[in-house]
Amino acid sequence: MSKHAIAVPYTTLLLDASSSEPLYRQLYDALRCAILTGQLKPGTRLQSTREMAAELGVSRNTVMNAFEQLLAEGYLEGQIGSGTYVSRALPDDMLFIRTSRPRAAEVSSKGRALSERGATMAATMLSTSRNVSLVRPFRPGTPALDAFPAGLWSKLLARRWRRPPRELLGYAESAGYRPLREAIAVYLGAARAVRCEADQVIIVAGAQQALDLTARLLLNVGDAAWIEDPGYLGTRAAFEAAGARVVPVPIDAEGLDVQAGARLAPKARLVYVSPSHQYPLGVTMSLARRLALLEWARAAGAWVIEDDYDSEYRYAQRPLATMQGLDNDGRVIYLGTFSKVMFPSLRIGYVVVPTDLIDAFIAGRGVLSRFTPSIDQAALADFIDEGHFARHIRRMRTLYAERQHVLVEAARRELDGLLEVEPHDAGIHLVGWLRAGIDDRRAQDEAARQNLEAPALSSFSLKYRPRAGLMLGYAGYNEREIRVGVRRLANALHNIASAKRR
Ligand SMILES: Cc1ncc(COP(=O)(O)O)c(C=O)c1O
Repeated sequence: MSKHAIAVPYTTLLLDASSSEPLYRQLYDALRCAILTGQLKPGTRLQSTREMAAELGVSRNTVMNAFEQLLAEGYLEGQIGSGTYVSRALPDDMLFIRTSRPRAAEVSSKGRALSERGATMAATMLSTSRNVSLVRPFRPGTPALDAFPAGLWSKLLARRWRRPPRELLGYAESAGYRPLREAIAVYLGAARAVRCEADQVIIVAGAQQALDLTARLLLNVGDAAWIEDPGYLGTRAAFEAAGARVVPVPIDAEGLDVQAGARLAPKARLVYVSPSHQYPLGVTMSLARRLALLEWARAAGAWVIEDDYDSEYRYAQRPLATMQGLDNDGRVIYLGTFSKVMFPSLRIGYVVVPTDLIDAFIAGRGVLSRFTPSIDQAALADFIDEGHFARHIRRMRTLYAERQHVLVEAARRELDGLLEVEPHDAGIHLVGWLRAGIDDRRAQDEAARQNLEAPALSSFSLKYRPRAGLMLGYAGYNEREIRVGVRRLANALHNIASAKRR
Protein backbone atom coordinates (compact mmCIF):
# COMPACT_ATOMS: atom_id res chain seq x y z
CA MET A 1 0.00 0.00 0.00
CA SER A 2 1.50 3.25 -1.03
CA LYS A 3 -1.28 5.43 0.41
CA HIS A 4 -1.12 6.86 3.92
CA ALA A 5 -3.97 8.80 5.48
CA ILE A 6 -4.38 10.97 8.53
CA ALA A 7 -7.61 12.40 9.84
CA VAL A 8 -7.59 16.14 10.35
CA PRO A 9 -10.77 18.02 11.11
CA TYR A 10 -13.25 17.67 8.23
CA THR A 11 -10.85 16.12 5.79
CA THR A 12 -8.35 13.41 5.09
CA LEU A 13 -4.78 13.97 4.06
CA LEU A 14 -3.63 11.60 1.37
CA LEU A 15 0.03 11.01 0.74
CA ASP A 16 1.21 8.94 -2.17
CA ALA A 17 4.62 7.30 -1.76
CA SER A 18 4.72 6.32 -5.44
CA SER A 19 4.43 9.94 -6.60
CA SER A 20 7.50 11.73 -7.91
CA GLU A 21 6.69 14.58 -5.55
CA PRO A 22 8.54 14.22 -2.21
CA LEU A 23 6.35 13.18 0.73
CA TYR A 24 7.23 16.24 2.79
CA ARG A 25 6.06 18.44 -0.07
CA GLN A 26 2.77 16.53 -0.37
CA LEU A 27 2.20 16.93 3.36
CA TYR A 28 3.09 20.63 3.21
CA ASP A 29 0.58 21.14 0.35
CA ALA A 30 -2.15 19.23 2.13
CA LEU A 31 -1.73 21.10 5.41
CA ARG A 32 -1.48 24.46 3.70
CA CYS A 33 -4.61 23.72 1.75
CA ALA A 34 -6.46 22.64 4.92
CA ILE A 35 -5.42 25.93 6.57
CA LEU A 36 -6.40 28.10 3.61
CA THR A 37 -9.76 26.46 3.17
CA GLY A 38 -10.56 26.82 6.86
CA GLN A 39 -10.54 23.10 7.63
CA LEU A 40 -7.74 23.77 10.10
CA LYS A 41 -8.84 26.85 12.02
CA PRO A 42 -6.44 29.56 13.31
CA GLY A 43 -5.16 28.59 16.73
CA THR A 44 -5.68 24.83 16.24
CA ARG A 45 -2.94 22.82 17.85
CA LEU A 46 -1.45 20.26 15.53
CA GLN A 47 -0.38 16.78 16.62
CA SER A 48 3.27 16.40 17.47
CA THR A 49 5.54 15.52 14.59
CA ARG A 50 6.10 12.10 16.20
CA GLU A 51 2.36 11.33 16.37
CA MET A 52 1.66 12.58 12.88
CA ALA A 53 4.59 10.60 11.45
CA ALA A 54 3.37 7.44 13.15
CA GLU A 55 -0.17 7.94 11.97
CA LEU A 56 0.89 8.63 8.40
CA GLY A 57 3.48 5.87 8.29
CA VAL A 58 6.21 8.28 7.18
CA SER A 59 9.46 9.28 8.77
CA ARG A 60 9.49 12.01 11.41
CA ASN A 61 11.88 13.97 9.20
CA THR A 62 9.22 14.18 6.50
CA VAL A 63 6.78 15.77 8.94
CA MET A 64 9.44 18.06 10.40
CA ASN A 65 10.41 19.31 6.95
CA ALA A 66 6.79 20.09 6.12
CA PHE A 67 6.26 21.88 9.45
CA GLU A 68 9.45 23.88 9.06
CA GLN A 69 8.34 25.13 5.68
CA LEU A 70 4.91 26.09 7.03
CA LEU A 71 6.48 27.83 10.01
CA ALA A 72 8.86 29.73 7.75
CA GLU A 73 5.98 30.89 5.56
CA GLY A 74 3.87 31.95 8.53
CA TYR A 75 1.08 29.36 8.25
CA LEU A 76 2.09 27.82 11.57
CA GLU A 77 3.42 29.35 14.76
CA GLY A 78 5.04 28.01 17.87
CA GLN A 79 7.95 25.62 17.98
CA ILE A 80 8.42 22.12 16.75
CA GLY A 81 8.71 19.96 19.85
CA SER A 82 6.79 22.24 22.20
CA GLY A 83 3.51 22.79 20.38
CA THR A 84 2.74 23.93 16.85
CA TYR A 85 -0.43 25.93 16.08
CA VAL A 86 -2.18 27.19 13.00
CA SER A 87 -1.17 30.82 12.87
CA ARG A 88 -3.63 33.28 14.37
CA ALA A 89 -2.09 36.13 12.44
CA LEU A 90 -3.10 34.97 8.99
CA PRO A 91 -4.80 37.85 7.20
CA ASP A 92 -8.52 37.19 6.74
CA ASP A 93 -8.44 37.57 2.99
CA MET A 94 -5.93 34.72 2.68
CA LEU A 95 -8.26 32.38 4.51
CA PHE A 96 -11.26 30.37 3.41
CA ILE A 97 -10.34 30.09 -0.22
CA ARG A 98 -12.88 27.44 -1.07
CA THR A 99 -10.80 25.52 -3.52
CA SER A 100 -7.45 23.86 -3.42
CA ARG A 101 -6.66 24.99 -6.98
CA PRO A 102 -4.78 28.28 -6.99
CA ARG A 103 -6.80 30.99 -8.67
CA ALA A 104 -5.55 34.22 -10.23
CA ALA A 105 -5.91 37.03 -7.71
CA GLU A 106 -8.66 39.52 -8.56
CA VAL A 107 -7.00 42.90 -8.41
CA SER A 108 -8.12 46.37 -9.33
CA SER A 109 -6.02 48.23 -11.87
CA LYS A 110 -6.10 51.41 -9.77
CA GLY A 111 -2.60 52.74 -9.28
CA ARG A 112 -1.13 50.03 -11.50
CA ALA A 113 -0.65 51.88 -14.76
CA LEU A 114 0.92 50.25 -17.79
CA SER A 115 3.89 51.93 -19.38
CA GLU A 116 3.04 54.24 -22.29
CA ARG A 117 4.30 51.55 -24.62
CA GLY A 118 2.27 48.93 -22.79
CA ALA A 119 -0.89 51.00 -22.99
CA THR A 120 -0.37 51.47 -26.73
CA MET A 121 0.14 47.76 -27.24
CA ALA A 122 -2.85 46.87 -25.12
CA ALA A 123 -5.04 49.24 -27.12
CA THR A 124 -3.94 48.35 -30.63
CA MET A 125 -3.81 44.65 -31.32
CA LEU A 126 -6.76 43.54 -29.23
CA SER A 127 -9.14 43.06 -32.12
CA THR A 128 -6.71 40.78 -33.93
CA SER A 129 -5.27 39.04 -30.88
CA ARG A 130 -8.48 37.49 -29.59
CA ASN A 131 -11.19 35.24 -30.97
CA VAL A 132 -9.20 34.35 -34.04
CA SER A 133 -9.08 30.59 -33.81
CA LEU A 134 -12.58 30.06 -35.19
CA VAL A 135 -11.93 30.02 -38.93
CA ARG A 136 -15.06 30.79 -40.95
CA PRO A 137 -15.72 32.23 -44.40
CA PHE A 138 -14.60 34.79 -45.52
CA ARG A 139 -11.86 35.57 -43.00
CA PRO A 140 -8.94 36.80 -45.12
CA GLY A 141 -5.35 35.69 -44.72
CA THR A 142 -6.07 31.99 -44.22
CA PRO A 143 -4.67 29.50 -46.77
CA ALA A 144 -6.27 26.15 -47.61
CA LEU A 145 -5.58 24.37 -44.35
CA ASP A 146 -7.61 21.39 -45.62
CA ALA A 147 -5.22 20.98 -48.56
CA PHE A 148 -1.96 21.16 -46.64
CA PRO A 149 0.00 17.86 -46.96
CA ALA A 150 -0.16 17.14 -43.23
CA GLY A 151 0.94 13.48 -43.65
CA LEU A 152 4.07 14.46 -45.50
CA TRP A 153 4.85 17.23 -43.00
CA SER A 154 4.49 14.83 -40.09
CA LYS A 155 6.90 12.39 -41.80
CA LEU A 156 9.49 15.13 -42.24
CA LEU A 157 9.12 16.10 -38.60
CA ALA A 158 9.30 12.47 -37.46
CA ARG A 159 12.47 11.94 -39.49
CA ARG A 160 14.07 14.89 -37.74
CA TRP A 161 12.89 13.65 -34.35
CA ARG A 162 14.46 10.21 -34.82
CA ARG A 163 17.79 10.66 -33.06
CA PRO A 164 17.90 14.46 -33.24
CA PRO A 165 21.43 15.82 -32.95
CA ARG A 166 22.26 18.06 -30.02
CA GLU A 167 22.25 21.20 -32.12
CA LEU A 168 18.57 20.73 -32.95
CA LEU A 169 17.54 20.34 -29.31
CA GLY A 170 19.79 22.83 -27.60
CA TYR A 171 20.06 26.58 -27.80
CA ALA A 172 20.56 27.65 -31.37
CA GLU A 173 21.69 30.65 -33.36
CA SER A 174 19.34 33.60 -33.33
CA ALA A 175 19.82 34.13 -37.05
CA GLY A 176 18.11 30.81 -37.74
CA TYR A 177 18.94 27.31 -38.98
CA ARG A 178 21.64 27.74 -41.61
CA PRO A 179 20.28 25.29 -44.24
CA LEU A 180 16.87 27.00 -44.05
CA ARG A 181 18.45 30.42 -44.52
CA GLU A 182 20.27 29.06 -47.56
CA ALA A 183 17.13 27.48 -49.00
CA ILE A 184 15.24 30.76 -48.59
CA ALA A 185 18.02 32.81 -50.22
CA VAL A 186 18.01 30.48 -53.26
CA TYR A 187 14.20 30.52 -53.48
CA LEU A 188 13.93 34.31 -53.20
CA GLY A 189 16.65 34.84 -55.79
CA ALA A 190 14.93 32.60 -58.31
CA ALA A 191 11.27 33.39 -57.62
CA ARG A 192 11.38 37.03 -56.49
CA ALA A 193 14.63 38.45 -57.92
CA VAL A 194 15.73 39.26 -54.39
CA ARG A 195 19.49 39.85 -54.33
CA CYS A 196 20.86 38.35 -51.16
CA GLU A 197 23.22 35.88 -49.54
CA ALA A 198 22.05 33.44 -46.85
CA ASP A 199 23.84 35.62 -44.27
CA GLN A 200 21.30 38.37 -44.85
CA VAL A 201 18.32 36.09 -44.17
CA ILE A 202 17.19 36.17 -40.54
CA ILE A 203 14.54 33.68 -39.45
CA VAL A 204 11.74 35.14 -37.34
CA ALA A 205 8.47 33.96 -35.83
CA GLY A 206 6.38 35.26 -38.74
CA ALA A 207 6.15 38.57 -40.53
CA GLN A 208 4.60 40.19 -37.46
CA GLN A 209 7.79 39.62 -35.51
CA ALA A 210 9.79 40.99 -38.44
CA LEU A 211 7.75 44.20 -38.27
CA ASP A 212 8.20 44.43 -34.52
CA LEU A 213 11.92 43.77 -34.70
CA THR A 214 12.50 46.22 -37.53
CA ALA A 215 10.55 48.97 -35.76
CA ARG A 216 12.47 48.43 -32.53
CA LEU A 217 15.81 48.45 -34.25
CA LEU A 218 15.28 51.37 -36.61
CA LEU A 219 12.78 53.77 -35.07
CA ASN A 220 13.30 56.20 -32.22
CA VAL A 221 10.35 57.30 -30.12
CA GLY A 222 8.60 60.09 -32.01
CA ASP A 223 10.10 59.21 -35.42
CA ALA A 224 7.70 59.51 -38.33
CA ALA A 225 6.95 56.30 -40.24
CA TRP A 226 4.72 56.14 -43.32
CA ILE A 227 2.16 53.41 -43.45
CA GLU A 228 -0.27 52.51 -46.21
CA ASP A 229 -3.80 53.77 -45.59
CA PRO A 230 -5.86 51.63 -45.70
CA GLY A 231 -3.26 49.12 -44.60
CA TYR A 232 -2.28 46.13 -42.53
CA LEU A 233 -3.20 46.67 -38.88
CA GLY A 234 -0.26 44.63 -37.62
CA THR A 235 2.15 47.17 -39.08
CA ARG A 236 0.47 50.07 -37.36
CA ALA A 237 0.46 48.14 -34.09
CA ALA A 238 4.18 47.34 -34.29
CA PHE A 239 5.16 50.89 -35.21
CA GLU A 240 2.99 52.48 -32.54
CA ALA A 241 4.29 50.06 -29.94
CA ALA A 242 7.81 51.21 -30.84
CA GLY A 243 6.72 54.77 -30.09
CA ALA A 244 6.75 55.92 -33.70
CA ARG A 245 4.51 58.63 -35.10
CA VAL A 246 2.52 56.76 -37.69
CA VAL A 247 1.77 58.80 -40.82
CA PRO A 248 -1.06 57.42 -42.98
CA VAL A 249 -0.31 57.79 -46.70
CA PRO A 250 -3.06 57.26 -49.30
CA ILE A 251 -3.11 54.53 -51.94
CA ASP A 252 -4.17 55.12 -55.54
CA ALA A 253 -4.30 52.92 -58.63
CA GLU A 254 -0.46 52.76 -58.73
CA GLY A 255 0.00 51.97 -55.05
CA LEU A 256 1.40 54.18 -52.28
CA ASP A 257 1.24 57.87 -53.20
CA VAL A 258 4.90 58.77 -52.72
CA GLN A 259 4.38 62.48 -53.39
CA ALA A 260 1.68 62.66 -50.75
CA GLY A 261 3.97 60.91 -48.28
CA ALA A 262 6.81 63.32 -49.03
CA ARG A 263 4.46 66.23 -48.39
CA LEU A 264 3.01 64.79 -45.18
CA ALA A 265 6.23 63.66 -43.52
CA PRO A 266 9.35 64.58 -45.50
CA LYS A 267 11.63 63.50 -42.65
CA ALA A 268 10.15 60.05 -42.13
CA ARG A 269 12.68 57.41 -41.03
CA LEU A 270 10.80 54.42 -42.37
CA VAL A 271 8.20 53.52 -44.97
CA TYR A 272 6.10 50.37 -44.99
CA VAL A 273 4.76 49.04 -48.30
CA SER A 274 3.21 45.82 -49.59
CA PRO A 275 3.96 46.49 -53.27
CA SER A 276 3.27 43.14 -54.90
CA HIS A 277 -0.30 42.99 -53.56
CA GLN A 278 -1.28 45.91 -51.38
CA TYR A 279 -3.08 44.86 -48.23
CA PRO A 280 -6.06 45.19 -48.21
CA LEU A 281 -6.87 46.83 -51.58
CA GLY A 282 -4.88 44.41 -53.76
CA VAL A 283 -3.20 47.09 -55.92
CA THR A 284 0.17 46.19 -57.47
CA MET A 285 2.58 49.07 -57.10
CA SER A 286 3.72 50.33 -60.50
CA LEU A 287 7.37 50.19 -61.45
CA ALA A 288 7.47 54.00 -61.67
CA ARG A 289 6.20 54.27 -58.10
CA ARG A 290 8.67 51.69 -56.82
CA LEU A 291 11.52 53.63 -58.33
CA ALA A 292 10.13 56.92 -57.04
CA LEU A 293 9.91 55.51 -53.52
CA LEU A 294 13.44 54.14 -53.66
CA GLU A 295 14.71 57.47 -54.93
CA TRP A 296 12.88 59.37 -52.19
CA ALA A 297 14.19 56.96 -49.52
CA ARG A 298 17.74 57.37 -50.77
CA ALA A 299 17.52 61.17 -50.68
CA ALA A 300 15.79 61.23 -47.28
CA GLY A 301 18.04 58.57 -45.74
CA ALA A 302 14.93 56.52 -44.88
CA TRP A 303 14.39 52.76 -44.71
CA VAL A 304 11.77 50.90 -46.73
CA ILE A 305 10.06 47.77 -45.42
CA GLU A 306 8.84 45.66 -48.32
CA ASP A 307 6.23 43.17 -47.06
CA ASP A 308 5.87 40.38 -49.65
CA TYR A 309 3.36 38.44 -47.54
CA ASP A 310 1.46 36.60 -50.29
CA SER A 311 3.78 36.95 -53.27
CA GLU A 312 3.52 33.24 -54.14
CA TYR A 313 0.00 33.66 -55.45
CA ARG A 314 -0.11 35.06 -58.95
CA TYR A 315 -2.59 33.61 -61.38
CA ALA A 316 -1.90 35.44 -64.64
CA GLN A 317 1.17 37.42 -65.65
CA ARG A 318 4.54 37.23 -63.93
CA PRO A 319 4.95 39.35 -60.82
CA LEU A 320 6.92 42.58 -60.91
CA ALA A 321 10.44 42.38 -59.55
CA THR A 322 10.72 43.13 -55.87
CA MET A 323 11.86 46.52 -54.65
CA GLN A 324 14.67 44.78 -52.84
CA GLY A 325 15.98 43.61 -56.22
CA LEU A 326 15.85 47.17 -57.60
CA ASP A 327 17.54 48.76 -54.60
CA ASN A 328 21.18 49.71 -55.10
CA ASP A 329 21.48 51.62 -51.89
CA GLY A 330 20.76 49.03 -49.18
CA ARG A 331 17.58 50.78 -48.06
CA VAL A 332 15.10 47.91 -48.34
CA ILE A 333 14.28 45.49 -45.56
CA TYR A 334 12.40 42.68 -47.25
CA LEU A 335 10.09 40.42 -45.30
CA GLY A 336 8.13 37.30 -46.03
CA THR A 337 6.20 34.61 -44.20
CA PHE A 338 5.38 30.92 -44.45
CA SER A 339 1.94 31.58 -42.96
CA LYS A 340 0.23 31.83 -46.33
CA VAL A 341 2.04 28.99 -48.11
CA MET A 342 2.32 26.53 -45.26
CA PHE A 343 0.01 27.38 -42.33
CA PRO A 344 -0.13 30.33 -39.92
CA SER A 345 0.51 28.37 -36.72
CA LEU A 346 3.94 27.35 -38.04
CA ARG A 347 5.08 30.86 -37.04
CA ILE A 348 8.08 31.01 -39.33
CA GLY A 349 8.95 33.99 -41.47
CA TYR A 350 12.10 35.78 -42.56
CA VAL A 351 13.66 39.21 -42.97
CA VAL A 352 16.28 39.94 -45.60
CA VAL A 353 18.38 42.80 -44.34
CA PRO A 354 21.08 45.03 -45.88
CA THR A 355 24.54 43.72 -45.00
CA ASP A 356 25.32 46.47 -42.49
CA LEU A 357 22.24 45.57 -40.42
CA ILE A 358 22.92 41.81 -40.15
CA ASP A 359 24.54 41.87 -36.72
CA ALA A 360 21.95 44.21 -35.23
CA PHE A 361 19.08 42.04 -36.51
CA ILE A 362 20.67 38.86 -35.17
CA ALA A 363 21.18 40.42 -31.75
CA GLY A 364 17.69 41.91 -31.77
CA ARG A 365 16.13 38.59 -32.76
CA GLY A 366 17.86 37.07 -29.77
CA VAL A 367 16.33 39.63 -27.43
CA LEU A 368 12.80 38.83 -28.63
CA SER A 369 12.71 35.06 -28.05
CA ARG A 370 16.24 33.90 -28.75
CA PHE A 371 15.41 31.85 -31.85
CA THR A 372 12.72 29.99 -33.78
CA PRO A 373 12.09 26.30 -32.90
CA SER A 374 14.90 24.38 -34.62
CA ILE A 375 13.16 21.13 -35.54
CA ASP A 376 10.41 23.03 -37.35
CA GLN A 377 13.06 25.03 -39.19
CA ALA A 378 14.91 21.85 -40.16
CA ALA A 379 11.75 20.14 -41.41
CA LEU A 380 10.89 23.27 -43.39
CA ALA A 381 14.36 23.29 -44.96
CA ASP A 382 13.76 19.65 -46.01
CA PHE A 383 10.31 20.56 -47.34
CA ILE A 384 11.89 23.20 -49.58
CA ASP A 385 15.05 21.28 -50.57
CA GLU A 386 13.14 18.13 -51.51
CA GLY A 387 10.82 20.03 -53.86
CA HIS A 388 7.62 19.77 -51.79
CA PHE A 389 7.41 23.53 -51.30
CA ALA A 390 7.44 24.32 -55.04
CA ARG A 391 4.93 21.50 -55.68
CA HIS A 392 2.62 22.71 -52.93
CA ILE A 393 2.68 26.29 -54.26
CA ARG A 394 1.83 25.02 -57.78
CA ARG A 395 -1.09 22.96 -56.44
CA MET A 396 -2.36 25.83 -54.33
CA ARG A 397 -2.18 28.28 -57.23
CA THR A 398 -4.51 26.05 -59.21
CA LEU A 399 -6.81 25.46 -56.26
CA TYR A 400 -7.01 29.14 -55.30
CA ALA A 401 -7.68 30.22 -58.87
CA GLU A 402 -10.61 27.77 -58.84
CA ARG A 403 -11.85 28.98 -55.48
CA GLN A 404 -11.63 32.58 -56.59
CA HIS A 405 -13.63 31.70 -59.69
CA VAL A 406 -16.32 30.01 -57.57
CA LEU A 407 -16.55 33.12 -55.40
CA VAL A 408 -16.79 35.52 -58.34
CA GLU A 409 -19.43 33.40 -60.11
CA ALA A 410 -21.53 32.91 -56.97
CA ALA A 411 -21.30 36.64 -56.21
CA ARG A 412 -22.44 37.51 -59.73
CA ARG A 413 -25.47 35.30 -59.35
CA GLU A 414 -26.46 36.19 -55.80
CA LEU A 415 -25.06 39.59 -54.96
CA ASP A 416 -25.97 41.54 -58.05
CA GLY A 417 -26.68 45.18 -57.21
CA LEU A 418 -25.42 44.68 -53.65
CA LEU A 419 -21.76 43.78 -53.84
CA GLU A 420 -19.49 43.96 -56.86
CA VAL A 421 -16.83 41.23 -56.85
CA GLU A 422 -14.35 41.26 -59.72
CA PRO A 423 -11.67 38.64 -60.41
CA HIS A 424 -8.10 39.53 -59.54
CA ASP A 425 -4.82 38.01 -60.66
CA ALA A 426 -3.06 37.82 -57.27
CA GLY A 427 -3.46 37.03 -53.61
CA ILE A 428 -5.83 35.00 -51.47
CA HIS A 429 -8.63 37.51 -50.93
CA LEU A 430 -10.82 39.81 -53.01
CA VAL A 431 -12.40 43.11 -52.13
CA GLY A 432 -16.16 43.27 -52.71
CA TRP A 433 -17.41 46.82 -53.35
CA LEU A 434 -20.71 47.60 -51.69
CA ARG A 435 -23.57 49.07 -53.67
CA ALA A 436 -26.92 50.57 -52.76
CA GLY A 437 -25.29 52.96 -50.27
CA ILE A 438 -24.62 50.16 -47.78
CA ASP A 439 -22.21 51.09 -45.01
CA ASP A 440 -19.39 48.54 -44.68
CA ARG A 441 -19.36 48.32 -40.86
CA ARG A 442 -23.07 47.66 -40.94
CA ALA A 443 -22.49 44.99 -43.61
CA GLN A 444 -19.69 43.42 -41.55
CA ASP A 445 -21.97 43.24 -38.47
CA GLU A 446 -24.92 41.83 -40.40
CA ALA A 447 -22.59 39.25 -42.02
CA ALA A 448 -21.36 38.26 -38.54
CA ARG A 449 -24.97 37.53 -37.60
CA GLN A 450 -24.97 35.08 -40.52
CA ASN A 451 -21.85 33.43 -39.06
CA LEU A 452 -19.55 35.03 -41.61
CA GLU A 453 -16.43 37.09 -41.23
CA ALA A 454 -16.16 39.75 -43.92
CA PRO A 455 -14.14 42.63 -42.47
CA ALA A 456 -15.16 46.14 -43.48
CA LEU A 457 -12.55 47.85 -45.61
CA SER A 458 -12.93 50.99 -43.52
CA SER A 459 -11.66 49.13 -40.46
CA PHE A 460 -8.20 49.11 -42.09
CA SER A 461 -8.08 52.86 -42.59
CA LEU A 462 -6.90 55.62 -40.30
CA LYS A 463 -7.58 58.73 -42.33
CA TYR A 464 -8.28 57.95 -45.98
CA ARG A 465 -11.64 56.29 -46.27
CA PRO A 466 -11.78 53.85 -49.18
CA ARG A 467 -15.07 53.16 -50.99
CA ALA A 468 -17.31 51.00 -48.85
CA GLY A 469 -16.22 47.40 -49.28
CA LEU A 470 -15.77 44.00 -47.66
CA MET A 471 -12.70 41.79 -47.55
CA LEU A 472 -13.48 38.32 -48.82
CA GLY A 473 -10.84 35.66 -48.19
CA TYR A 474 -11.45 32.63 -50.42
CA ALA A 475 -8.34 30.45 -50.35
CA GLY A 476 -9.19 28.75 -47.08
CA TYR A 477 -12.73 27.63 -47.96
CA ASN A 478 -14.00 24.86 -50.20
CA GLU A 479 -16.57 25.34 -52.97
CA ARG A 480 -19.50 24.44 -50.81
CA GLU A 481 -18.44 26.79 -48.01
CA ILE A 482 -17.96 29.59 -50.52
CA ARG A 483 -21.37 29.04 -52.13
CA VAL A 484 -23.17 28.82 -48.78
CA GLY A 485 -21.20 31.83 -47.55
CA VAL A 486 -22.23 33.92 -50.56
CA ARG A 487 -25.87 32.96 -50.04
CA ARG A 488 -25.66 34.04 -46.42
CA LEU A 489 -23.91 37.23 -47.40
CA ALA A 490 -26.76 37.92 -49.82
CA ASN A 491 -29.24 37.48 -46.94
CA ALA A 492 -27.23 39.87 -44.81
CA LEU A 493 -27.02 42.56 -47.49
CA HIS A 494 -30.68 42.13 -48.50
CA ASN A 495 -31.65 42.66 -44.86
CA ILE A 496 -29.75 45.96 -44.80
CA ALA A 497 -31.04 47.11 -48.19
CA SER A 498 -34.66 46.38 -47.30
CA ALA A 499 -34.31 48.05 -43.89
CA LYS A 500 -33.03 51.15 -45.70
CA ARG A 501 -36.01 51.15 -48.05
CA ARG A 502 -38.48 50.98 -45.18
C1 LIG B 1 0.07 42.22 -45.15
C2 LIG B 1 0.44 41.20 -44.13
N1 LIG B 1 1.65 41.22 -43.60
C3 LIG B 1 2.04 40.35 -42.66
C4 LIG B 1 1.18 39.39 -42.21
C5 LIG B 1 1.62 38.55 -41.05
O1 LIG B 1 1.94 37.30 -41.28
P1 LIG B 1 2.56 36.37 -40.14
O2 LIG B 1 1.53 35.32 -39.93
O3 LIG B 1 3.79 35.84 -40.74
O4 LIG B 1 2.82 37.18 -38.93
C6 LIG B 1 -0.11 39.30 -42.72
C7 LIG B 1 -1.05 38.28 -42.21
O5 LIG B 1 -2.22 38.28 -42.47
C8 LIG B 1 -0.49 40.23 -43.71
O6 LIG B 1 -1.72 40.21 -44.23
